[in-house]
Amino acid sequence: MRNTHILHVVGARPNFMKAAPVLRALGEHDSIRQTLVHTGQHYDFNLSEAFFQELGMPAPDVNLHVGSGSHAEQTAEIMKRFEPIVLERRPDVVIVYGDVNSTVAAALVCAKLRVPVAHVEAGLRSFDRSMPEEINRLLTDQVAELLFTPSQDGNDNLAREGIPLANVHLVGNVMIDTLMRMLPCARRHVPADLPERFVLVTLHRPANVDDVAWLGDILRLLTRISATTQVIFPVHPRTKRRLTAAGLNGSNHRGLHLSEPLPYLNFLALQTRATVVITDSGGIQEETTFLGIPCITVRENTERPITVTRGTNTLVGRDPLRLCTEVERILGGEHKRGTVPPYWDGHAAERIAAIMDNTF
Ligand code: UD1
Repeated sequence: MRNTHILHVVGARPNFMKAAPVLRALGEHDSIRQTLVHTGQHYDFNLSEAFFQELGMPAPDVNLHVGSGSHAEQTAEIMKRFEPIVLERRPDVVIVYGDVNSTVAAALVCAKLRVPVAHVEAGLRSFDRSMPEEINRLLTDQVAELLFTPSQDGNDNLAREGIPLANVHLVGNVMIDTLMRMLPCARRHVPADLPERFVLVTLHRPANVDDVAWLGDILRLLTRISATTQVIFPVHPRTKRRLTAAGLNGSNHRGLHLSEPLPYLNFLALQTRATVVITDSGGIQEETTFLGIPCITVRENTERPITVTRGTNTLVGRDPLRLCTEVERILGGEHKRGTVPPYWDGHAAERIAAIMDNTF
């Protein structure tokens, strides 16, 4: 009997909820054997292990423990530590997820060793090469042999870049597979004392948090909002470091609640009840679109344009006035209703598994 060996690589928080449904769906195929490698890019309990536990993921077979570093250090370290694993375990195909440094590092190693790479969440483009994730997306898609896209814009971008269309499959959004599976459980995590109306905030992109003046502007705006509407802000470690360095983390006061990063279920529970979400994350733009919750994205562009054209997302760039006006408009009850994009239906991972099974 055929015994295909598939090796998955995950490293950072947004990878985990994408890999979980794919591992599960492939697990239904008897002819497939799986290995899970965690690069250790994210290593804090709240950014990593908590997700494995909640999502019911198997413990990684291998952890490369690369930790933090500059982009070059982190990417190079992952490549150095991952190469011997591929040589030793000899997978038939390696699946990489999303656009983090672990994604591109693993893809490059495999391309050089001539091991086929499948990329889940291929084709997304912000067309902004100042974003490290855009570089990771472009390079990963160039070397991948199988490209799974979440929406038609992904297929269009890949066609423009000369990727053979036979290798590209529009399968839908695996992140939404996880959301749909976990939603009933998340609803049980809604805190009893949650206010009726509140603003939920996440910010971690270097473009927002490494610029102290701009971070201060955002914080002043949040403080102002918090006089009338509660603001809940789970803080990413990078953001926490910047706030501390700038002396801004003392601004936690009555209506503004800064906390540690939240586990998946707690954060999803808050998203389902938020009056508006302010974010610079990629995945949260998608989750709010699915949930029909208004989302304001503090970025000039997005690699997920469908959340703006079809969903509930609005880009406000780095413009304090636009951010302020948009928040007030939504708190005043005026917001986009949006629709759920095609194939964001909870079955994307099953489609991936069927294609993998037919291909390898
Ligand atoms: C990474 C991804 C980004 C993703 C984000 C989700 C890249 C280029 N970026 O950004 O696309 O949206 O994850 O969180 O891969 N740190 C900790 N504990 C951890 C991990 C990180 O304290 O467990 C701190 C370290 O000081 C580190 C900093 O956070 O230097 C940034 O971590 P890193 O993995 O480099 O990038 P993220 O900003 O998390």
